Amino acid sequence: MKFSELTRLEVLKHLDGFVSGAVTEYMKPPEQMWQPADHLPDTARESFFDEVKQLQERAKELSYDVLAVLIGDMITEEALPTYESWLYAMDGINELGEDCGWRRWTRAWTAEENRHGDLLNRYLYLSGRVNMREVEASTQYLISDGFNIETGHDPYRNFIYTSFQEVATNVSHRRVATLAKKAGDTTLSKICGLVAADEARHAKAYQAFISKIFEVDPNEAILAFEDMMRKKIVMPAHFLREIGTRIGDTYGHFTNAAQRLGVYTAHDYVEIVQELLKTWKVEELADLAPSGEKAREYLLRLPDRLLRVAERMKLPELEYKFRWILA
Ligand SMILES: [Fe+2]
Ligand SMILES: [Fe+2]
Repeated sequence: MKFSELTRLEVLKHLDGFVSGAVTEYMKPPEQMWQPADHLPDTARESFFDEVKQLQERAKELSYDVLAVLIGDMITEEALPTYESWLYAMDGINELGEDCGWRRWTRAWTAEENRHGDLLNRYLYLSGRVNMREVEASTQYLISDGFNIETGHDPYRNFIYTSFQEVATNVSHRRVATLAKKAGDTTLSKICGLVAADEARHAKAYQAFISKIFEVDPNEAILAFEDMMRKKIVMPAHFLREIGTRIGDTYGHFTNAAQRLGVYTAHDYVEIVQELLKTWKVEELADLAPSGEKAREYLLRLPDRLLRVAERMKLPELEYKFRWILA
């Protein structure tokens, strides 16, 4: 009997070398990597004020919804302490020690992600269109409120979540880049394009981790995948709020704006599920226990079911005034 004989810790140990290798394969050292300062006006240059003026002129062309989505995306990036501590609390990781591949990966990933919030934050600050105090209060709320993405501390569920989530952030930043370009804001378009490219790289790495887990522990992997799909992948900022509102109140308005713009939609969700099914070769998996076969059946039917739901969904029209955005 080979089903589920392995513990999570054994699997993590077995893959530690692979994950260690992923740090060098998927990540670049700081001196080779772009940094936020490369893409924004330098305060030490004499041309600084002129450059800011130009930046503000271009930012005037961004629509209200684009700005709302960009701020929501930025706050999501800024809540990085939540994500790092979540990955650091994963089952089995303490037993592997401080310098295991999984922890090295988590630190390197955090270090890359940290640039995203910095860059977007600095752009928004310079844009002159944002009430930064309100945005900062939302960020403080979000980090303080944490999240509940229902992965528990299970490494399989964690990395199924990140495999999905990194694609979702790639889609979202990429589309904002396109909208910014259309509005004539080439600086912002470039910024969002750079962030999107990082997210795509992260997605590839996380999907590779789960592919490896599928190789050694397919039944447990598919059960974890099924479980996360039944629970639905909620975005990490689902507790988003502004001053004076309740926990999670602002999140719906943020996602409505994203749906209206076509930046991240229910159809995108379905496409990501399809991508994951294909990447992890769910249709061809061998050696599944009866429970795994049942999970596969559910998973293979899921895209069609989700598509039917997506087709029935109405585009949210409700206009909402965010405290974040200056008139
Ligand atoms: Fe990011
Ligand atoms: Fe990412």
